Amino acid sequence: MRDSAAFKDTRFASDNTAGICPEAWQALRDADQGSCPSYGEDALTARAADAIRAALGGEGDVYFVFNGTAANSLALAACCQSYHSVICSDVAHIVTDECGAPEFFSNGTKLLAVRTEDGKVTPAEVERLVTHRSDLHYPKPRVLSLTLPTELGTLYSLEELRALAAVARRHGLAVHLDGARFANAVVGLGVSAAELVAAAGADVLCFGAVKNGLGFGEAVVFRNRALSAEFSWRCKQSGQLASKMRYLAAPWLRGFQDELWLRNAENANRSARSLAAQLSAVPGARLVRPVEANAVFVELSAEHHEKLKSAGWAYYTFIGGAARFVCSWATTPADVDALVATLTTSS
Ligand SMILES: Cc1ncc(COP(=O)(O)O)c(C=O)c1O
Repeated sequence: MRDSAAFKDTRFASDNTAGICPEAWQALRDADQGSCPSYGEDALTARAADAIRAALGGEGDVYFVFNGTAANSLALAACCQSYHSVICSDVAHIVTDECGAPEFFSNGTKLLAVRTEDGKVTPAEVERLVTHRSDLHYPKPRVLSLTLPTELGTLYSLEELRALAAVARRHGLAVHLDGARFANAVVGLGVSAAELVAAAGADVLCFGAVKNGLGFGEAVVFRNRALSAEFSWRCKQSGQLASKMRYLAAPWLRGFQDELWLRNAENANRSARSLAAQLSAVPGARLVRPVEANAVFVELSAEHHEKLKSAGWAYYTFIGGAARFVCSWATTPADVDALVATLTTSS
């Protein structure tokens, strides 16, 4: 672990840096009521799974795991044999930031990454990767993995998703959605969660709560129940079956009451739009792509970087070829102003 002097202002470094929202925290406290069945056999877990199914249009086999890497890796492993491959974008979290976990948990399934400018896979690229080889020496494409919103803060439209789903169906690919920020995609597109998963023809959705401020567990939702047979055993074997599952589930249940999960995402997206608008007025700063969810990518001058560094702001520059600032449920207008003021105040 780091030396304490290294800590910086992490308000925009990621939506992982925000805390748990007060309502979810209260739900955790409320869940702390004496004894109840363990390993997901409790009523709260069942109700949270029902709430997720209802939000997604009534279908799905739901599992709670501790984090997004586990959700993605185990979901992909459930879709694949070791000789299969997963088509995804070259900036997909499963390729760049999961330390080989998808390959590990699927015993060697290969990730076939498509080069993209905006984080989005195109139907033509999927078609090309599936059809350019069909021999035994090529890892057989089995899954199309899409991230909603993408790692570059962009969104597939429903039409784009329908086109991708059609290619996937034509070639017998299962569709996996990395929805670590699924709420931000739903709000950003202004559609319902059910419409979104239906347009994508999703077989399995890794539905994120952590970045949305709802506690610390993610859900894996199989719309295609043929893929989830024995998934409980996968969770258990990989150390992802929580004994006190009610604490993973309770914030989820709270999130679906009075649309808290959507309000949290709306705050994040709105803050990102406001940050983008203010940054684009800063001389020498240039937005590198549209802000469609809660991340802002901006090209900054050396002087800007120096100012941010001196003021102690933490942010990444290795994703998407620019400085990345991410807003969350907790971002306030004052936070946005503080970041922008660092850039506009003369040194
Ligand atoms: C697109 C995406 N997928 C999945 C994850 C989940 O990763 P973790 O294992 O850190 O919860 C993240 C986290 O940053 C992410 O950005």
